[in-house]
Amino acid sequence: MITTNNFVNELDLALQEKHKGEIRQKIKDKGLCAFVFTLGCQQNEADSERIRGVLREVGYKITENEEKADLLIVNTCAIREHAERRALSIIGRFKHYKAKNPDIIIGVCGCMTAQEHRANQIKHSYHYVDFTFGTSMLYRLPEFINNALNKGKRRFLLDSEKPQIAEGLEIERESNYKAWVSIMYGCNNFCTYCIVPYVRGRERSRNMKDVLDEVKDLAKRGYKDITLLGQNVNSYGKDLEGKPTIADLLNEIAKIEGDFMIHLMTSHPRDASSEMIEALSKNPHSANHFHLPLQSGSDAILKKMNRHYDKQRYLSIVDELREKNKGITFTTDIIVGFPGETEEDFNQTVEIVKKVRFDSIFSFIYSPRKGTPAYEMEQVPEEIKHKRYDYLCQVQNEISNEINQTYVGKIIRVLVDGKSKNNENVYTSRTEGNKIVHFECDNDYTGEFINVKITKADTFALYGEKI
Ligand code: 5AD
Ligand code: SF4
Repeated sequence: MITTNNFVNELDLALQEKHKGEIRQKIKDKGLCAFVFTLGCQQNEADSERIRGVLREVGYKITENEEKADLLIVNTCAIREHAERRALSIIGRFKHYKAKNPDIIIGVCGCMTAQEHRANQIKHSYHYVDFTFGTSMLYRLPEFINNALNKGKRRFLLDSEKPQIAEGLEIERESNYKAWVSIMYGCNNFCTYCIVPYVRGRERSRNMKDVLDEVKDLAKRGYKDITLLGQNVNSYGKDLEGKPTIADLLNEIAKIEGDFMIHLMTSHPRDASSEMIEALSKNPHSANHFHLPLQSGSDAILKKMNRHYDKQRYLSIVDELREKNKGITFTTDIIVGFPGETEEDFNQTVEIVKKVRFDSIFSFIYSPRKGTPAYEMEQVPEEIKHKRYDYLCQVQNEISNEINQTYVGKIIRVLVDGKSKNNENVYTSRTEGNKIVHFECDNDYTGEFINVKITKADTFALYGEKI
């Protein structure tokens, strides 16, 4: 079932095993700690779980306290300028740890460091950083750490021309009831605003068997919430032999026993097929929630964004999903202030938001990304972008509030996430539709499904009591 060149070969993986053995010897009995800071999306969260898995495997203790760490890794994001600024400020903060203790190892990875200009910037302006590497080089972490332990030359490695998948890496999952399962990596879409295809390479899918084995194992271990991850999960399998589709994968997952729900993150409307929608509707594990990035409600802007659908097509996918999956909740991503966006274009986005009535939206002010086509286009002035963003939030907040009020009086199943930060007897949970529910309870049901009666709602959450 595999196209072999999708995968890192066994010799390369064996070499990493050798480095792991050497690190284990070097740090044995020293009680060294490692700290991993993660910025960005779920894909990065998933990558950090692999990083922690490898670090623990070679003998580091994982710490949440950066001041105690002997090895510090920053897993960066590049999606917007703000994310890069945050990464640089965190890397900056690590400087004094190295000044105090020169044996400390500092590494930076993720989307930001997959860009040549950023890798160079770190090389030249952050002299205390020992290594950086691009997203597809994660499997070589043992080699980079071993080199740093040997006081070897600083390393700054971008992605390979043709990034590959490394199967079998250890994963240290943050949660024992919620899990990310990457089903594919990279993106072929080249939306004109987006840096992802440049920092995560072309689409490559994991073998269906590897994905299914992982999901089966998680279900057996009692995981309740499994998110199938990829930049564009709807094009899963196109590069595999036999071309299995996301619908095939969902149909196989449907056969797995256990009380767990499946989320998809993220779907591109361009590839949302009727087969996929059908497979979701028949799947007993499907969480009745769909995240379908709209980006803009203007056909002219969608075209300039290179999105390959228009608002009519978008609306018809929403209709089909709603028809086949009663009560499904919708979320979306919207970019405000894309180059050339006129007031009329923006109004069309607002119109779609009012028409679809999303449960919630993730809206972003367009951030120019160096190296992408939109970076070169004529930009919308900052104050206009901010004004539109504020207005869109206002419109959506009203809709979210109205939808949430309809839950008052209903009994819904939620997955408990743990104690609320602000209040001792209050717990936080999520509905299958991904809505936040706070409820009072004397017992701790973290990681379990329970039923809650909703008594109150506002724009951002539902409130209730366990029944
Ligand atoms: N500026 C603002 N938002 C962006 N996104 C991607 N690139 C940019 C950018 N340059 C948003 C898109 C995407 C989400 C993950 O981030 O809405 O769906
Ligand atoms: Fe970026 Fe578009 Fe790919 Fe999503 S589909 S990662 S927005 S290029």
